[in-house]
Amino acid sequence: MPEASRPHEVAGPVPEASRPHEVAGLVPEASRPHEVAGLVPEASRPHEGDSQAGTVSWGELLDEARLRLSVSAEVETPEVDARRIVEAASGASPAEFDRVLRQRATTLTAARFFSMLERRCTGEPLQYVVGSWGFRTLDLMVDHRVLIPRPETEVVAGWAVDEVERRSTEAGGDREVVVVDLGTGSGAIALSVAVECPQARVFATDVSAEALAVAGANLAGVGRAATRVSLHEGDWFEAVPGAMRGSVDVVVSNPPYIGAGEELPPVVADWEPPVALWSGPAGHEAVEQVIHGASQWLGPGGALVLEAASHRAQQTAGMASGAGFSDVRVERDLAGLERVVIGRLP
Ligand SMILES: C[S@@+](CC[C@H](N)C(=O)[O-])C[C@H]1O[C@@H](n2cnc3c(N)ncnc32)[C@H](O)[C@@H]1O
Repeated sequence: MPEASRPHEVAGPVPEASRPHEVAGLVPEASRPHEVAGLVPEASRPHEGDSQAGTVSWGELLDEARLRLSVSAEVETPEVDARRIVEAASGASPAEFDRVLRQRATTLTAARFFSMLERRCTGEPLQYVVGSWGFRTLDLMVDHRVLIPRPETEVVAGWAVDEVERRSTEAGGDREVVVVDLGTGSGAIALSVAVECPQARVFATDVSAEALAVAGANLAGVGRAATRVSLHEGDWFEAVPGAMRGSVDVVVSNPPYIGAGEELPPVVADWEPPVALWSGPAGHEAVEQVIHGASQWLGPGGALVLEAASHRAQQTAGMASGAGFSDVRVERDLAGLERVVIGRLP
């Protein structure tokens, strides 16, 4: 989960290099959002087939998006956002982007474009607007039912992959490695582990049935690895099949860790699911539950990989030591912040 101070850090296919923050001289009047020749009438013609190209090109629509996004107080990266909206509305991959700019939008795709642009201008996060986001090797579907996967969580998933490989090596590579991802949300961590570790069997849980529906949709997109993943609804370890108690190899989790007194930027607090953000009054209640449960559900030598609030990472490590974990250490995320707590049972 994000630090309150860095909600906009997102991983995605659009490189930093393509993010000029200003479009010089193109500040439009707020009252003329759709003033690009031919756009609105085209998008609103009800009886035209979608195969019929309209009069406006994707290049013109890109300009329109840049103009409107650059004057929206809600948008920090108008160039990136404009490009991603055009890609999503047109269906073009990043490699096809330059070519699609010369093509004309159809009625339906232009309407889709304007709908996305409106949503983004009102402050809805780009990831929800375009409906998918990159996470490690995956392109995940995301919407308001799940937390937007963050780059720091990609680091957490990487450490979970390392622990799966360690357990596999210790076992001589001849058995499945059992992984539990608690609070799976979009399935980001669970599916990454399953895809990157062919020896992993992954139990992904969440208390939110809505989140599990999104995880299920993403599960359908990972091919054969999906046969090694199951989804379970319930409160932390209550969702895990009882027979696994004391034999799990790796518990990984990015639990909610915002405390009642802490503030979040509106772009997070207003749009992302509260159950994914808020823990208890102190902020570490969910973390404590996961640590305590992991000490009972892991087998000997099993590993806990936990995402933590950076300002509480050392405290979280102390909790893990207190719960019986050894070799407890804290790893940093890509921003250099203490982020991941890793411990192993003796
Ligand atoms: C910070 S989000 C992490 C989502 C995803 N793992 C990720 O890293 O992007 C926390 C997740 O924990 C889930 N959650 C909250 N309380 C829970 C509980 N008591 N038991 C299980 N899951 C819970 C939320 O629904 C949410 O999906």
